Amino acid sequence: MCYTIGQGTANYTRAPKGKSIEKGMVKHMEQFRFIWKYIKRHKGQYIGGIITLFILDFANLYIPKVTGIITDGLAAHTIDRNGVLHNIGIILGIGLTLAVGRFLWRYFLFGASRSIEHEIRDDMFAHLETLDVEYYNEHKTGDLMTRFTSDLNAIRMAIGPAVIAAFDAVVMTVMVIGQMMIYVNVKLTLVAIIPMILIAFGELYYGKIMQKRFRERQEAVSELTDFVQESFSGVRVVKAFVRERAQIQEFAKANANAKKKNLAIAKMEAIVIPLLDVVIGISSLLTLLYGGSLTLAGEITIGRFVAFNQYIMMLVWPMLACGEAINMFSQGGASIRRLQEVFEEKPEITDGEHVVNVGGLRGDICLNHLTFIHRGHSEPTLKDISLNINAGTTLAVIGRTGNGKSTLVNLLLHLYNTKRGMIYLDGKDINDIPLKMLRENIAYVPQDNFLFSDTLKSNIAFGTDNEEMEEIVKATKTACIHENIIAFPDGYDTVVGERGVTLSGGQKQRSSIARAIKRDAPILILDDALSAVDTDTEEKILKNLKENRCGKTTILIAHRISTIQNADKILVLEDGEARECGNHRELMALGGIYKEMFDKQQLEAAKSLAISTM
Ligand SMILES: Nc1ncnc2c1ncn2[C@@H]1O[C@H](COP(=O)(O)OP(=O)(O)OP(=O)(O)O)[C@@H](O)[C@H]1O
Ligand SMILES: [Mg+2]
Repeated sequence: MCYTIGQGTANYTRAPKGKSIEKGMVKHMEQFRFIWKYIKRHKGQYIGGIITLFILDFANLYIPKVTGIITDGLAAHTIDRNGVLHNIGIILGIGLTLAVGRFLWRYFLFGASRSIEHEIRDDMFAHLETLDVEYYNEHKTGDLMTRFTSDLNAIRMAIGPAVIAAFDAVVMTVMVIGQMMIYVNVKLTLVAIIPMILIAFGELYYGKIMQKRFRERQEAVSELTDFVQESFSGVRVVKAFVRERAQIQEFAKANANAKKKNLAIAKMEAIVIPLLDVVIGISSLLTLLYGGSLTLAGEITIGRFVAFNQYIMMLVWPMLACGEAINMFSQGGASIRRLQEVFEEKPEITDGEHVVNVGGLRGDICLNHLTFIHRGHSEPTLKDISLNINAGTTLAVIGRTGNGKSTLVNLLLHLYNTKRGMIYLDGKDINDIPLKMLRENIAYVPQDNFLFSDTLKSNIAFGTDNEEMEEIVKATKTACIHENIIAFPDGYDTVVGERGVTLSGGQKQRSSIARAIKRDAPILILDDALSAVDTDTEEKILKNLKENRCGKTTILIAHRISTIQNADKILVLEDGEARECGNHRELMALGGIYKEMFDKQQLEAAKSLAISTM
C-alpha cells in the first residue's frame, strides 16, 4: 500500500519503510533466482572449489600454531635444532598444500564463473534475436553493448572471485577466531574482535549504497558507449557538417559524467579501506594491552601471545576480502538487474495459437480494410486500404515520402502486429501463418540496403544455407552487379566494410537486390530499391526481374514512374489512403494524382535533357 503526502495539486507518494525493505528483499531474491539457475548447473565445480577453500583455510591455521610451538620450545629450551627443522618442514609442507589448493579453487570457481558468463551471453543474444524491431527502435545499441560486456563482466566477478573472497573470508574468520579462543584465550579473543563486529554491520550498509552507485555508473557508461557508437557510425555526417568540435565537447560531457559516477564509487572505497586499517589497529592495540597483561600474569604463554598476534594479522585479509566481496556482489547485483530488464522484455509478435503450417506460399495477397497506427501516433499511418494482389503479378506502390509505403510492406512481413481479418496471404490470415514460414516466403530489399561487414559472397548468400557460386552469380547478374563485383580486386571475396561503406550507393542497392533474388521466394519486395541506379540499369534490372520472376509476386515501391509503369497494378498512396489503383493506362486515363506525377516527372526529364544538350 502507498500513502500520499503533500497537499493541493502536488502529490508525492512514498512507500512505507517496511514495504520498501520488503520490496528490496523481493528484488534481491529475484536477482538471486536469476543467477541460481546458472550456478546450479555448475554445482560440482562450486562444491569442489569450496571444499578446497575449506581445506586450505584449515591448513593455513597451522602456521601460527607451529610458530608458537617453536617460540615456546626455544623459550623453555625444550626444543633442539632437529625439532626446529622438523617444524619448519611442517610449515613448508603446509605452504605446498596451500599452493596446490589455490590452483585448484581458482580452477574450479573461475572456470565455473567463465562458463556461466558464456551461457548468459548466449542466452541473452538468443533472447534479443527474438525481440521485435520495435524494441530496437526504442533501445540504443550502445546501452545493449554495455549490458553485453561490462555488465556481464561484473556478474562474472560476483559469481567467481566474490564467492571465493566471501567464503574464504567467512571460513577463515570463523576458524581463526575459533583457534584464538581454543588455543589462546576466550576473553582476549572477545576483546580483540569487538571492533570487527562493528565493521561487519557497517559493511552491510556499505553494500546497499554501492549497489545504487554501481547502477548509476553502468547507466553513465551505457550513455558514453552509445555516444561513441553513434559518433563512429555517423562520422560522415559529423565531418560534412564540421561538427567535430561539438562532438568532442559532447563526448567530454558524457565522459565527465561517467568519471563522476566512478569517483562516487572510488570515494566510498577510499573511506572503507582505511577504516578497516583503523579497526585492525585498534584490535592490535587491545591485544597488546590486554594480552600483554595476561601474559605478565602468566595466564597465557609468550608463544601463545605471539601466535595470537599472528592470528589478528590473519584477520586483516578476510576483512579486506569481505569488503571486496561486498563490492563485487553489489556491482554484480546491479548488473543482474540490468540483464533481467532485457530478459523480461517479451516479443509482442509471436506465433499465435491458431497458426497452421502452410508450407510454401503461392503469393496471393489480400488487404481488407487495412488500417494501422504506429506506436506513439494518434493518427493512423495507413487508412482503410483494400486490395488484391494475385500470385504472379507485380504491384507497384507510389506516393509521397512519409505516406506509409514502407509501413505497408513491413506489415506484410509481420514486423508489426495487425488486427485479424486485415491481411491475408493465400487466403490465410497473416496472424495464422507461422512467422518463420511467412518470412521465408518473402524476399525483402529494405530501403536502407543494410549489408554486413563481410564478403560480398556471404552477404549475397545471407539467409540461405548454401554459398553455391553458380546461384550467387545468377542473382548478381539479374541485379546487374556481377560486372562491378568481378572488377573489384578481390571479386566476390571483397569485404564491404561496416554497413557496406566501401560500396557506392547504387552498388550497395544492387547487392542488396541480389541478396533478395538469391532467396528465390514466392514474394519479392523492393522498397525503393532502384532509387540509386541510373535509368538504363534500372530498365535492365526490371527486364531481368520480369524474366526471372515469372509466376511469382513482386511488390515494387518507388518514387519514379519509370520504375513502375509496367506493373500489373499500381497503388497510389496519399496521406495513408489508397487514392488510386489500376495499371498505368487506367491511371493515366483517370487524370488524377498519378497523371499529375507523371506529367511533372516528364517535364523534369525534358528540362534536364535540354540542359544537358545545351
Ligand atoms: N517504427 C515507427 N514508429 C513510429 N512511427 C513510424 C515508424 N516507422 C515509420 N513511422 C511513421 O510512419 C509514417 C510513414 O512512414 P513510412 O516509412 O512508411 O513512409 P514511406 O512512405 O515509406 O516514406 P519514404 O518514401 O520516405 O520511404 C511516417 O510518418 C513515419 O514517421
Ligand atoms: Mg519508405
